[in-house]
Amino acid sequence: MIKIAPSILSADFANLERDVVWAERNGADWLHIDVMDGRFVPNITIGSQMVESLRSRTGLLMDVHLMIVEPEKHIAEFSRAGADLITVHAESSDHLHRLLYSIKECGLRAGLALNPATTEHVLDYLWDLLDLVLVMSVNPGFGGQKFIPAVLPKIRTIARKIKSLGKDIELQVDGGVNRETAASVVEAGASVLVMGSAVFGGERDGRIIQAIKMLPGEKRGV
Ligand code: DX5
Ligand code: ZN
Repeated sequence: MIKIAPSILSADFANLERDVVWAERNGADWLHIDVMDGRFVPNITIGSQMVESLRSRTGLLMDVHLMIVEPEKHIAEFSRAGADLITVHAESSDHLHRLLYSIKECGLRAGLALNPATTEHVLDYLWDLLDLVLVMSVNPGFGGQKFIPAVLPKIRTIARKIKSLGKDIELQVDGGVNRETAASVVEAGASVLVMGSAVFGGERDGRIIQAIKMLPGEKRGV
């Protein structure tokens, strides 16, 4: 079954606990936490203190997406705060092998994110360290952007590769995923969908989580 990771970027920060509990009750699998520093991306959002505060309020897997420069300086800090999985950007470091290894050394799951214009070939020598690949389907920085369909072939290629490796590696897609775009992403082979505005924005119908989880994912990567 497809996993849904609501992004708290679109939640009400003044009522974060309420929103996280609501998402959990409505079937969320993971909690996606977008960390932005105003340098790697234009926006500034959440730090490790927020992760630490949320840790005691939810049993959901804490999926921390680092959109920051020099991510190597912050891995231990987010690990201590309670992250279960840390995803770093391929574009954010010249030493990805070392960076991913440092996440694994903390005992966490490690993910690598690719911006829309980044080729999947950056994954070539990193598979042994990866628990997750994140394909960005918008340019990172803000919630509520429009899905970029040009990333669909990349999702398909990576899904096929994961299948051929026979490894338990999640394929996550982040950006503009909603009722209209989710089916194409699942059909292309994604296993975890991040949804921000589609879950927390608009009229807030929690049933969207269950509805999208039920999309047929058996044909993954074929
Ligand atoms: C964008 C973030 C996303 C964002 C997704 O840079 O990485 O996780 O919250 O928001 P939606 O689902 O609204 O595109
Ligand atoms: Zn994200």
